[in-house]
Amino acid sequence: MKVTNLGHACFHLEIGGVNIVTDPFMSPNPNCSIDPMDVKCDWMLITHGHGDHVTDAVAIANNTGCKVVANYEVANWLINQGVKNVHHLNHGGSVTTEFGAVKMVNAVHSSSFEDGSYAGHPAGFIIKSTEGNAYFAGDTALMYDMKMFGEYENLSQAFLPIGDTFTMGVDDAVIAAKMLQCSQIVGMHYDTFPPITIDKDEALKKFNTNKLELHLPSIGQTIEI
Ligand code: NI
Ligand code: MN
Repeated sequence: MKVTNLGHACFHLEIGGVNIVTDPFMSPNPNCSIDPMDVKCDWMLITHGHGDHVTDAVAIANNTGCKVVANYEVANWLINQGVKNVHHLNHGGSVTTEFGAVKMVNAVHSSSFEDGSYAGHPAGFIIKSTEGNAYFAGDTALMYDMKMFGEYENLSQAFLPIGDTFTMGVDDAVIAAKMLQCSQIVGMHYDTFPPITIDKDEALKKFNTNKLELHLPSIGQTIEI
């Protein structure tokens, strides 16, 4: 699959010509100069309601008419703002797509909207396609569910937070990759704000030492994994 880093936990994935955008947060990101209105999107996947995962969701959804996958509470929040084509999922549930399927899985984190109201339980996704099953962790701590995903989901790629403070950091992400039985890791949720600034060279070394490949594409860069 083609993966373009749009900053923080926001990625553009291209699978079999279908455009997928995760956790849209571009316009407030000081490190991202890409216009959200230039992003192609057929499916948007939202892990939870925190501002750094949803800020550009309504604008991109209205601009592209994409389908949006989110939990019940985030889905209703989008519908209330006029977004069409919203697919409610809850944990364990899947939606069938042109490229395969997307399943909502657990994440250990919190989830609320900017005004403090409840945004449901935070999630990750298993994105299934002929280009490999990818685990998109969202914001999460290391958790033993990852062992189960490794045993049963036949993962080819995993997107893991590595910034520490609000999610797991590099050392736990290495353990996560081992539990996931997945060597192709894309790092996310780092360097956007001072508390999640990391030493990238050290992170790359730690993954490398464990025979894992950590990909840290710069914002705007596209890689094939
Ligand atoms: Ni969060
Ligand atoms: Mn976050």
